[in-house]
Amino acid sequence: MCILGGKAVTFWIKLSPTALAIADLVEYHPDGVRQDGFLITRINVPFEFRSKGHGSALLKKILAAADERGEKLWLGITPSDGLSFVQLERWYFRHGFKWVGKHTMMRKPKKGEVK
Ligand SMILES: CC(C)(COP(=O)(O)OP(=O)(O)OC[C@H]1O[C@@H](n2cnc3c(N)ncnc32)[C@H](O)[C@@H]1OP(=O)(O)O)[C@@H](O)C(=O)NCCC(=O)NCCS
Repeated sequence: MCILGGKAVTFWIKLSPTALAIADLVEYHPDGVRQDGFLITRINVPFEFRSKGHGSALLKKILAAADERGEKLWLGITPSDGLSFVQLERWYFRHGFKWVGKHTMMRKPKKGEVK
């Protein structure tokens, strides 16, 4: 799969004067050509602010924007120093993501027009 150059979007929630929960998305091209939604390339909450619901609040902002615009969301699970792969998989399942490939999860928008 290939990501072509295109629009990038960042979502964040300010947690303190110096801390952000942050997520980056880029336009996604599942077939390497046609844009079909956005790939979440990063979602991160600073260590000391974790397990307080900030990650879920941030993900819900992204889901609401995707639903509003009728955009699919794509991601690959790449745990770093927070929730494990299995915990992340459960989390994304609870928010409507499904496996669509060996390493790729996708969520269809709940309302709006699917592109
Ligand atoms: C993934 C990450 C953003 C979650 O942020 P967070 O603020 O800790 O998340 P929340 O407190 O909102 O919890 C997220 C979900 O995991 C669950 N959870 C939180 N801590 C947990 C724990 N220790 N054990 C099991 N489940 C847990 C919550 O119940 C929540 O599920 P829900 O939304 O269905 O209620 C954070 O762990 C992180 O920054 N990790 C490092 C980067 C990373 O791995 N990003 C994901 C790449 S795919």
